[in-house]
Amino acid sequence: QTIYLKDYTVPAYLVDQLALDIAIHTGFARVTARLSMRRNPAATASALWLDGEDLQLEALSIDGRALSPADYVLSDAGLSITTLPEAFVLESVVRIEPDKNTQLSGLYRSKDGYFTQCEAQGFRRITFYPDRPDVMAKFSCTLHADKAAFPVLLANGNPVAQGDEANGFHWAKWEDPFAKPAYLFACVAAKLDVVEDYYTTTSGRRVRCAVYVEPGKLDQCDHALAALKKSMKWDEDVFGLEMDLEHYMIVAVGDFNMGAMENKGLNIFNTKYVLARPDTATDTDYQNIDRVVAHEYFHNWTGNRVTCRDWFQLSLKEGLTVFRDQNFGMDVHSAGVTRIQEVRTLRAAQFPEDAGPMAHPIRPASYAEINNFYTATVYEKGAEVIRMIHTLIGKAAFRQGMDLYFARHDGQAVTCEDFVAAMQDASGLDLTQFQRWYNQAGTPRLVVKSAFDAAAKRYTLTVTQHYPATPYEERMAADGLPQARGPYHLPLVIGLLDAAGKELPLRLSGETSAAGTQRVLTLREDTQTFVFEDIASEPVPSLLRGFSAPVVLDYDYSDAALTHLMAHDSDAVNRWEAGQRLATGILLKGVEHKAQGEWIPAPYVDAIRALLASAFAPAGDPALVAEALLLPSETYLAEQMAVVDPDAIHAARLALRQHLARALRSEFESAYAQLAIDAPYSPDGAQSGKRALRNACLGYLAELGDEAANALVLSHYEQAANMTDTMAALSAIANLDIPARHTVLDSFYSKWKHEALVVDKWLQVQSTSRLATTTADVRALMAHEAFDIRNPNKVYALVRAFCAANPKHFHAADGSGYKLAADVIVELDAMNPQVASRIARTFDRWKKFDAARQALARVQLERIRAHVGLSSDVSEVVSKALD
Ligand code: ARG
Ligand code: ZN
Repeated sequence: QTIYLKDYTVPAYLVDQLALDIAIHTGFARVTARLSMRRNPAATASALWLDGEDLQLEALSIDGRALSPADYVLSDAGLSITTLPEAFVLESVVRIEPDKNTQLSGLYRSKDGYFTQCEAQGFRRITFYPDRPDVMAKFSCTLHADKAAFPVLLANGNPVAQGDEANGFHWAKWEDPFAKPAYLFACVAAKLDVVEDYYTTTSGRRVRCAVYVEPGKLDQCDHALAALKKSMKWDEDVFGLEMDLEHYMIVAVGDFNMGAMENKGLNIFNTKYVLARPDTATDTDYQNIDRVVAHEYFHNWTGNRVTCRDWFQLSLKEGLTVFRDQNFGMDVHSAGVTRIQEVRTLRAAQFPEDAGPMAHPIRPASYAEINNFYTATVYEKGAEVIRMIHTLIGKAAFRQGMDLYFARHDGQAVTCEDFVAAMQDASGLDLTQFQRWYNQAGTPRLVVKSAFDAAAKRYTLTVTQHYPATPYEERMAADGLPQARGPYHLPLVIGLLDAAGKELPLRLSGETSAAGTQRVLTLREDTQTFVFEDIASEPVPSLLRGFSAPVVLDYDYSDAALTHLMAHDSDAVNRWEAGQRLATGILLKGVEHKAQGEWIPAPYVDAIRALLASAFAPAGDPALVAEALLLPSETYLAEQMAVVDPDAIHAARLALRQHLARALRSEFESAYAQLAIDAPYSPDGAQSGKRALRNACLGYLAELGDEAANALVLSHYEQAANMTDTMAALSAIANLDIPARHTVLDSFYSKWKHEALVVDKWLQVQSTSRLATTTADVRALMAHEAFDIRNPNKVYALVRAFCAANPKHFHAADGSGYKLAADVIVELDAMNPQVASRIARTFDRWKKFDAARQALARVQLERIRAHVGLSSDVSEVVSKALD
């Protein structure tokens, strides 16, 4: 069943207050909810609808008068009541079974207690309620549970009372002073350890910051707690936004579908984004913790204080909050590295999504299952759209736009238009056309042509936009909702380099003097021409600097021009991008020739040699060099082909890595030696950058496969003093067909089998291994004690990583990879449709493969679709894929 944005209507009734009482007993919980309601003066409808799912109704009353079944209509999806006074108190009592809640949506059991996840529609699995974000109420929550088993009782807001009761139970009451939609509700009853600290806001509010974790993990909380305080400071400094509560709690839970959740004052996190110790977490894990903690904290304003009117507006809070956490990352880490990693993620995850069967604009006009729209498009492309507004209007106007947005909408549930209107009104820039970014799906392609007129010293860039319709637009048209399409309004940031690598002053025709060496060109039309004057000799254009728009840039660069940009561009993203373009060109040639013969040009090897040397120059940045040494992924290369040949891609990429390793062996060896770190571990940018480069060198050396290289990898493993180094070695070893592989993997497992997040790493190096036995190994690991299909992190590490990050095996010509994925999807769908659906998404690009592979994939997709009782989550994904 499809839901449409155009069908939005305001709720018939509003909730002013909600008093919840949740008593957790063995095997069930009883939830009593008192809703103080009144008719919405803005509504025309008069029936009350309360969502409810998997609830056993025990009692229902209005103003203290019990209702009989004749007074309401109850279905699987909820309850409706037609005859009601203007204002009333509705009380319901329901029984739920959190121990049987394997979906991890609503109230559920995890190892040490009970936790909640209510976004998007989990609250209806706790009690009957108008579970939609435009219904905002003040909540109180009283929890009751066994005191010895569940000593910690938490909910949103402030603790107001607590006490003991009969039978060893205790209770606690929490009150949230801010009205909020139900998706931001959270409560926890568990056995947890806590670490606390205090943060004082600029206006003097003393905030208790607390991180709750499973007993015994207190030594893994410091980084998350520090990240929280850093985030609070950053949001004050950059946006003038302060924490508004006295308590800010983060609770880590090992069973969690997504990354984390911004519940008001009580964030619930996947342990993966909280727990870190140098010997258990990698530099990347530390950085991810910074970013996710910041992300959830920033939601307090962009998401909670101002929330979404309906779920079509999800990007209103997610795109904006990702943009904010990205800027935090650029400020506290390295700006260049952070941006490069984002561009890589966007192109690895979002571009394929936008080119596949699930393509949708950042604000879709319809969906079948909202959980399927927590996508790279809504999040990452959504953040790029906000970034473009920032680039077009500038930092100062953007800040004014944010201030205006909060001045207008604090306490409201609003739409993407409301946000854009605030930016437009604050800046004076007309953003009407810009709104196409919210309505059109697909990645636009910019075709740029250059012409140089030596006599006139004139350089001309002609830019053409292409934006063909996607399956989304076809679906909408078939639904009778044709979507108008047109060119985008976007910023194209550029510079021009001369033959010496110097940046040229830029004067556009019609201007009296040059204004700087970098310009933001504004695109609005299908084709536009930009003429630069006083250009003495033909420059090399540096286009789309900083990745200023989420587009594919098509410009016919020569290898020499790319090598030039790689060495001289002042823009870190474009230096990196030039290297990626160069490598992509070479690799695609390698794919074409099945990596036979002399297909790797010597100048490329020289460019990589120079790149590596640049890390040791006075202003060298090892972290950026490490990024640049990483070749485009197999998945990225696949997207560049009309018909994907996964074996040829894998072979070409491996051959290029081996070629570089042989040609630059001594350079890699000496860099590896020079980059050794003596200091105690720190995840800071400088140290992690050195480690990244050192481990990149190790990765190349590991490709040599001779005795000396293997010995180096094994000694790196043995000497590793932190998880970053350990994993660098372990992932290399996992690709080696040597006897030591088993010994190392076994001893790693025995050492870490009680540390769940480390076991996930152990599963993932095996599921992403290139060895021929990988598919069989993954099947065997699914039966290993270390694996648990009910735990999302385990499924992501073993199965999703196999499907998404091991194309050689997932797309195996015998169909074994597709079969494995389908087996898991079908088994998991009955337990956890959200996770099953995320695995199903790995079939998205099946039509890009050859006919034989398509036939094998189709068999599995049809088998999944035919499965009786299939969830709406998986059904939507698979049907769209098969369409
Ligand atoms: N709002 C959360 C975040 O972005 C994600 C929650 C997603 N939950 C879901 N069931 N899809 O931080
Ligand atoms: Zn978010």
